Amino acid sequence: MSDLPGDVLRRMRRELERIGYFAVVSSLYPVAVYDRPEPLRPSISDPMLSSTVALFHGGARVPAERLPSALVPVLQDLAAAGVLVDRNEAGFSIAPLMLSRTLGIALFHERPSPRTRVYFGNESIALGLRLEPRHGDAVLDLCAGPGFQSLVAARTARRVVAVEINPVAASVLSCNAALNGLDDIVVRCTDLASFEDEDRFDLVVANPPLVPVPAGTPFPFVGDGGPDGLDVTRVILSRLDRWMAPESRLQLIGFGFPWIDGERLPSALGRLASVDLDLLVTVSGVFAYKPGAPAFEMMVESIAGYGGVDATEARERVGAHAEQQDLRLLLSFVARGERAASRRIRTVDFGRTPFGGWYA
Ligand SMILES: C[S@@+](CC[C@H](N)C(=O)[O-])C[C@H]1O[C@@H](n2cnc3c(N)ncnc32)[C@H](O)[C@@H]1O
Repeated sequence: MSDLPGDVLRRMRRELERIGYFAVVSSLYPVAVYDRPEPLRPSISDPMLSSTVALFHGGARVPAERLPSALVPVLQDLAAAGVLVDRNEAGFSIAPLMLSRTLGIALFHERPSPRTRVYFGNESIALGLRLEPRHGDAVLDLCAGPGFQSLVAARTARRVVAVEINPVAASVLSCNAALNGLDDIVVRCTDLASFEDEDRFDLVVANPPLVPVPAGTPFPFVGDGGPDGLDVTRVILSRLDRWMAPESRLQLIGFGFPWIDGERLPSALGRLASVDLDLLVTVSGVFAYKPGAPAFEMMVESIAGYGGVDATEARERVGAHAEQQDLRLLLSFVARGERAASRRIRTVDFGRTPFGGWYA
C-alpha cells in the first residue's frame, strides 16, 4: 500500500482528535503507571469513545463494530501492513503499546512493566522538558526508544538523528515521527557504540539505560545500566569527540551512586567525557538505598518481577549491592554540558526529595 504508514497514521491522529480521544488521555498524568499498574477507567458516556480509549490506552482488544467507522479502515490498513495494530476474529489490539500525548506529542510506547522494550517513563518526560534545541541545530538523540526527545527536538531543529538498538522500538519511533508530521527524523537502528555520522551535532541528548543493577542479575534491557548505572553512559561520554561539533551541547539524564570509583559522580562524568565540557550537574533527588526505603524496595520488586531470581535472592543481591556503597544513597541527576576550552564542573544539589523525583 503506497500511503503507509505516514498518511494512514496522520488520518488516524485526526480521527482520534475529532472523537475526543486525546482530550480524555490528556486528563491522565502522562505516564502514571508506576503508581497505578491498572489503567484508569473513566466513565465515558459515548460508547464509541469509550471503546477507543479501551483500545488505545487500556490494552483491550476491541471489535470493529464498537469503534468509530472512520477509524476502522485505518486500523485495517495498519494491521494489513503489520504496523502497530494486530487484528484477529475478536477485533483489533495495539497491546502491549498504548498511545499517550505529552507536550502535544502523540506517542506510541509500551506501558512500563518488567517486560517493557519500547520504553517511555517519567524521566523521558523530565529530559524532554529540559531540552534546549535551537533553531538550525543538528540534534543527536541516543537511546531514542519510541522517540520522545527526538520529537521534542524536531519541532525546532534543522536535523534530528535518532539512534536506537532495538528494531521494535526503532520502528515505533518511525511511526511516532509520521504520526506527528515530523517524518524528517532520521532513525538509525544500531548500537551507539559503533554509530558514526557524516555530520557533527550541535546538541547530543541521551536517556540511556540508567538503573544500577547488581552484577550478573537479569534486568530489563531498557533500564540496565550495569553495576553503577553508568555502563551505557560511559560509552556515550567516551564517544562525544566523534559526535559533538565545536560549541555544541550535551544533555543527559541518569541515576546512580554519589561516588564512582572513589570520585564524586559529577567529576567522574566530566573525566569520562572525551571532550572538554563546561558541565552543570544537577542532582534533582537523593534517596536512601537500604531495606524499607522505596528505592530499595522498588529495585527488589523489579528484579523479582523480571524473573530468573526469586524475591528472597533479589533482596539479598540488592542488599549486598547497596552495602558496597558507603553512603547507601542513590541520586537522580541531569547533566548539561557545553564544549569548552577546559573542563569545568559545577553542581546543583537539591538533596532529599520524594523517591522518583526528577524535580525537587
Ligand atoms: C531508558 S530507554 C529511553 C528511551 C527514550 N529515549 C525515552 O527517554 O523515553 C533506553 C533506550 O536505549 C536503548 N539502548 C540501550 N543500549 C543501547 C545502545 N548500545 N545503542 C543504542 N540504543 C541503546 C534501549 O533499547 C532503550 O530503548
